[in-house]
Amino acid sequence: MHGGTASGLRGRLDMAMTDGHWWQRGIFYQIYPRSFQDSNGDGIGDLAGIIARLPYLRDLGIEAIWLSPIFPSPMADFGYDISDYTAIDPVFGTMADCDALISAAHDLGLKLILDLVPNHTSDRHPWFIESRSSRNNPKRDWYIWRDGRGGGPPTNWLSEFGGSAWQYDEPSGQYYYHAFLAAQPDLNWQNPAVRHAIDDVMRFWLRKGVDGFRVDVIWHLIKDDAFRDNPPNPDFRPGRPPHERLKPLYTTDRPEIHELVAGMRRVIDEFDDRVLIGEIYLPVERLVSYYGKDLLGAQMPFNFALLSASWNARAIERIIGEYEHALPEGAWPNWVLGNHDRPRVASRIGKAQARVAAMLLLTLRGTPTLYYGEEIGMQQVAIAPHQVQDPFEKNVPGIGVGRDGCRTPMQWDATANAGFSAGQPWLPLAEDSVHENVRNLEADATSILNLYKALIRLHVMSPELTRGSYEPVAAKDNLLIYRRGGASSSLAVVLNLGSDPVSLASDAIGRHGEILLSTFMDRTGERCSGSIELRGNEGVILK
Ligand code: GLC
Repeated sequence: MHGGTASGLRGRLDMAMTDGHWWQRGIFYQIYPRSFQDSNGDGIGDLAGIIARLPYLRDLGIEAIWLSPIFPSPMADFGYDISDYTAIDPVFGTMADCDALISAAHDLGLKLILDLVPNHTSDRHPWFIESRSSRNNPKRDWYIWRDGRGGGPPTNWLSEFGGSAWQYDEPSGQYYYHAFLAAQPDLNWQNPAVRHAIDDVMRFWLRKGVDGFRVDVIWHLIKDDAFRDNPPNPDFRPGRPPHERLKPLYTTDRPEIHELVAGMRRVIDEFDDRVLIGEIYLPVERLVSYYGKDLLGAQMPFNFALLSASWNARAIERIIGEYEHALPEGAWPNWVLGNHDRPRVASRIGKAQARVAAMLLLTLRGTPTLYYGEEIGMQQVAIAPHQVQDPFEKNVPGIGVGRDGCRTPMQWDATANAGFSAGQPWLPLAEDSVHENVRNLEADATSILNLYKALIRLHVMSPELTRGSYEPVAAKDNLLIYRRGGASSSLAVVLNLGSDPVSLASDAIGRHGEILLSTFMDRTGERCSGSIELRGNEGVILK
């Protein structure tokens, strides 16, 4: 239960270290731009809308905003199919809007991170149009083209969005590879010209002043150059997405990837104090390799372990412990509860536990990333079959992979369409948005929104939380207890992951006798001696 010596020591060193980088000190906030704030009544969020909401984000206390893609796109995968890397899609606004957003954010002390999607482009990107035009085109080798095998595709590789990952191109008589939609052909990262082109895309935005990138599916970038078939996955279960029938041994997480990530990092390091974040869904021991040799890979490979955690004390303590243990010396941790691809946390674990999850997220060691709406407890919204927008769900219906339910419009107030848009929103709003909205929750002193604000404040203000070590104390029944801090000062976090009240002897929390914050927001300053009682679904931070 204890076994945290190595990580505890590492944490103590952190505590002694200087204040660190901005991306280590603050909280990240993901905006899905289509759904945050519409300013022109077309039912789709835009950059002007985000600018209008910057004061809200500043008041929330976050450090950095990450925007999902805002670049020109046919929107087959809602912006993750890019047809021009260095422009803005008109649905989101103009380059002038983007420049205005960067400077308005900076004026408020907020950093801005963009989504970089280097694994694939849209099939309408000029590079692909050229590449497809003939076998002899100079851009042919910018994508992955192969002859078929025995009358079928070149390998057995599967698309994450259903079916073969190879699309036959009649006119040129070859197949091209697409890890996602056929409308998202994969770039050929074996080709140095591709690397240079993406380096220049990064420089274009870094020169404009953006503070870094979240790199889409970074572990997919390079594929086996011998084009070997993927082996069957013995753990596949019916009801899971069909691509899971095979282990992606030759299509993802290839050894050569680290040299590519290091190359991106070198571009980041041409500029002052920027950050490289990688989207990576891998087991922890593989994930941490993305920090790179000598930590010269991604500064923060996203840690998604909590997205699929069973919500019980032992499982969560194990996840934290394994992650802390696997981190290379000096690597900076990070934690995530939700994103635009995964069901909302408040629906996964329930409304009451969402508050406990917030306390967990904001008291673990490392940088927390919030997904827009988590701070108001937004739920997964039920999407009727005729409302489905997500191409993944359209290709693979009926097994619950749809991502629309976690992408519904932000709930601002009780006016029409929750203040999101004067027009018909592109996705339906949550039914509870009349009550569960920013305006209402701001006015309610103990709302989840005010809890988030208090937790963010505490996180940012407490060296124990920003820089201190993590030390597991106990994980028993529904109780998860850990300490954060160092020898001179520490905090105890006690989380009740169940709905029944619990009582614990004060020796479990050592000399921490004063409640700094309860998830119910009604016990600040209370002193505990001898024992501490927690209500069901309550978490407390003690000094
Ligand atoms: C990433 C994105 C997801 C997108 C996919 C293909 O996983 O987060 O939304 O569909 O890449 O680009």
